Amino acid sequence: MTRAIRVGLGERAYEVAIGAGLLDEAGHRIAPFARRKRLAVVSDETVWGLHGARLTVALEAAGFAVASVIIPPGEQTKSFEGLADVTDRLLALQLDRGDLIVAFGGGVVGDLAGFAAAIYKRGIDFVQIPTTLLAQVDSSVGGKTAIDVAAGKNLVGAFHQPRLVLADLDVLASLPAREMRAGYAEVIKYGLLGDFGFFEWLEANGAKVLAREPEALAHAVARSVEMKAEIVAEDEKEQGRRALLNLGHTFGHALEAETGYGAALLHGEAVAAGQAIAFRFSAARGDCARQDAERAERAIAAAGLPTRLSDVPGHPFSADRLVGHMAQDKKAEGGRLTFILARGLGQAFVARDVDAGLVRDFLLAEGARP
Ligand code: GLY
Repeated sequence: MTRAIRVGLGERAYEVAIGAGLLDEAGHRIAPFARRKRLAVVSDETVWGLHGARLTVALEAAGFAVASVIIPPGEQTKSFEGLADVTDRLLALQLDRGDLIVAFGGGVVGDLAGFAAAIYKRGIDFVQIPTTLLAQVDSSVGGKTAIDVAAGKNLVGAFHQPRLVLADLDVLASLPAREMRAGYAEVIKYGLLGDFGFFEWLEANGAKVLAREPEALAHAVARSVEMKAEIVAEDEKEQGRRALLNLGHTFGHALEAETGYGAALLHGEAVAAGQAIAFRFSAARGDCARQDAERAERAIAAAGLPTRLSDVPGHPFSADRLVGHMAQDKKAEGGRLTFILARGLGQAFVARDVDAGLVRDFLLAEGARP
């Protein structure tokens, strides 16, 4: 069964299709959005090696001329150099505005190809075919595209909504277990930020989701996308409620910056630890009950994800350095920090104006060094 979730953005509205076997249907699903039967697939070597032939067959069967831009796997391509490489290769292919870009891969490919689509010839339509759990439930939906720069992650980018998202659950079968867990951190985020019922469902069924049991996996992806679609439709440019989707991200990004955005700590793992830390910080501030923070932590740890600074390679981290990274965050204003904190499970809120000194003291109590 394929589930279709609409991201209601007026004339830029689009559908996220979620189901098994969608790669094989990609050609006829994308065809309505193509002014010409020509597209360029941007993918990485790993995804292309595993699934490229199947996607190409499906696209060609629908009459598309398929070109490909294959990049090395890894976060390092999400850079100005990586972006220039992709746009140069699209130009060499003579891709026109009437053609399409297909972002076929995980979060890195989606963010990079999406940003390339946003600026290529001043903007070209694109389709997301996310191949990781993390990309299916988060980064492929909502139109955020970006690259990383020396000052931090995702600091240069654009909002550019895809025309369609195809989340094929079958491709998750080849995803390493660690990547599944990292994506699960973003699934649990939706429960923690705004749906206590979903959080409880995940407490009971998280192991089935991680084991890729089809029904459980389909429900987890669909409920996550439903929540994201609803929030994005209400607040596309993150003027308000969309910021809740950053639960765990301010602490998480700081840890990623310290660990070098690489294999030592995957983005989802950083977000997992960041969420547990955000709940404990909420409890420390008196915003939420300590039991809620402990329950959030248990659910995250049960998935084999980090919840404490001491779970992260590189510990002990410097509290001053971590706070320094947070001050660079897109959400920081005038030395005061913004966090997504919680009043309870399923009740996140935006806390502006958080004193950096308080955060530093909290991190020291969490085991950071000065
Ligand atoms: N990943 C957070 C957002 O899309 O807003």
